[in-house]
Amino acid sequence: MHSLEISRLKIWDSRTGSVIVPDSSFRVEQGKCLAIVGESGSGKSLTCRAIMRLNPASLQQSGHIELNGINLEELSDKEMRQFRGKHLCMIMQNGMRAFDPSRPVGAHLLKTLAVHYPWSRSDAIAKLKAALASVGLKDPDKVLKSYPYQLSGGMLQRTMIALALVLEPDVIIADEPTTALDAITQYEVVEQFIALRSRLGGMMIFVSHDLGIVKRIADDVLVMKDGHIIERGKTSDVLAEAKHPYTRYLVSSKLALSRHFTELMGGEAVVEG
Ligand SMILES: Nc1ncnc2c1ncn2[C@@H]1O[C@H](COP(=O)(O)OP(=O)(O)OP(=O)(O)O)[C@@H](O)[C@H]1O
Ligand SMILES: [Mg+2]
Repeated sequence: MHSLEISRLKIWDSRTGSVIVPDSSFRVEQGKCLAIVGESGSGKSLTCRAIMRLNPASLQQSGHIELNGINLEELSDKEMRQFRGKHLCMIMQNGMRAFDPSRPVGAHLLKTLAVHYPWSRSDAIAKLKAALASVGLKDPDKVLKSYPYQLSGGMLQRTMIALALVLEPDVIIADEPTTALDAITQYEVVEQFIALRSRLGGMMIFVSHDLGIVKRIADDVLVMKDGHIIERGKTSDVLAEAKHPYTRYLVSSKLALSRHFTELMGGEAVVEG
């Protein structure tokens, strides 16, 4: 069974008792990309981190998370560390925070690979260089030698995508991976995500505020509000005929924005559906 299945996920703050995500169930099939959209604070990131088991200890979770028939709750923390990276890979909003600031990017990447694969150092370097070049980084040697602060946000996100290409995880969870980038870099990085998706053919969860990006990349979409999934379905259906008023509001604000953008650029107000 190649799928990621989340059932009855509940996330709460053990210090205050407040429930943030009461009861979420969804599934991602092999080869599919599921987008999660929704306003700030609706629980998208906590949901992603719950799958990875990366929420802070004060946040507790219950429910069932199963990947390819493996029940993730049954893994010890040590087993889960091993499982992440090779099977579940997360790409976050801010590339800088994903890397160890005190070491060159290459050292960090090699250490990650060494946890999961028995490759020699020179084999691992060769694979990384090929992957870095394939995501449009022109000088892979220089990237490997650079410290994270010496690379731009777009370069760091491409580097994370390159690492995912080498790790070939079953699931990639991308939490607003382009939000911190300028519009042009955003476009280019989204193109790399689309290529990554088709090259790996695994499962992807893509969190985004941008319905234009969601339309480009996702087969299915979940809309979250206040911790609840209020709408779900095929991306084209949800964008074309949202049932919930909140989703309709999201879609109409997106259309208003793209009209405004087109007008600013001096063009015709072309409405994309
Ligand atoms: N460590 C934490 N402890 C307690 N509450 C938290 C913690 N982290 C987040 N929250 C709360 O959980 C809710 C959901 O947060 P989450 O980060 O999942 O939102 P989000 O949908 O990802 O928002 P954004 O679009 O801004 O990234 C928010 O109300 C937030 O205040
Ligand atoms: Mg978030």
